[in-house]
Amino acid sequence: MREFDDKTITAAVISRMDNCDDPRFKKVMTSLITHLHDFVREVELTEKEWIDAIQFLTETGQMCTAQRQEFILLSDTLGVSVLVITINHRAENGTAESTVLGPFYWENAPEMPLGSDLAVGVKGEPAFYSGRVLSADGTPLKNAVLDIWSGDGEGTYDMQMPGDVGMKARGKIRTDEQGRYWFRSIRPTYYPVPTDGPVGAMLRKMGRHPNRPGHIHMIVSADGHAPVTTHLFVAGSEYLDSDAVFGMKESLVAKFTRHDAGRAPTGEQVATPFYTVEYDFRLRPTPVNAGTAAR
Ligand code: BEZ
Ligand code: FE
Repeated sequence: MREFDDKTITAAVISRMDNCDDPRFKKVMTSLITHLHDFVREVELTEKEWIDAIQFLTETGQMCTAQRQEFILLSDTLGVSVLVITINHRAENGTAESTVLGPFYWENAPEMPLGSDLAVGVKGEPAFYSGRVLSADGTPLKNAVLDIWSGDGEGTYDMQMPGDVGMKARGKIRTDEQGRYWFRSIRPTYYPVPTDGPVGAMLRKMGRHPNRPGHIHMIVSADGHAPVTTHLFVAGSEYLDSDAVFGMKESLVAKFTRHDAGRAPTGEQVATPFYTVEYDFRLRPTPVNAGTAAR
């Protein structure tokens, strides 16, 4: 057949891959073409909508730099990122759930001694974090690493602060012999994803807010276990019910208990009210010979 109508076009495009020798690629593209054509037929896409979509994707690409990944933000805000993560990192037997990495991860944060204040000179209410890293069966994992980052108490990440402030509210903490960790930082607050690009315009047009509930990020890793890219969410934070990137998981919501000024769990005196939060992370063992080294 040389000529196609609005129904036969789909099979025709798919059959052009008859010589494709990558079965997985062929499967993915067959499904993509099928869904894309079905979508165009279902909404009866107009030529204006088609060119507007091309323009939107063009602007999304043009917004990308080494520091800004607008396509990932698009994937995040359409729920695709968390869908891919959820399919590929199923939390089983009470192991910690994964969620989005986000754009503010900075590799090679310094390793700090247990009990360190990660947020020296950072605005925000002090918070003392503690807990354990355990294997799925409850065995404590010594030498596990928590690679931690958050914005300040007003929701601004170091990368967004004016001037070159370097790393702030970041650091790696290693568990002790009993698998325990503890450190000081701030209590995170909600903040908006970047809205100055095409994704921001899309959110406004959709009538959506851009905010994420208060959270602190961590990648938790230990020898012989699958690393987990996750968050702790602040119980009671605004936007827990409507995270702009759909990354909120109930199992990751932690209670931040408020205390009056005074002696903190680390023994230090704190001149302002502060919070404590306790959370245990369980990691899934990797099959023998597929070990993952702690970072
Ligand atoms: C974040 O949590 O840092 C984040 C995640 C996805 C998009 C924007 C920000
Ligand atoms: Fe974040």
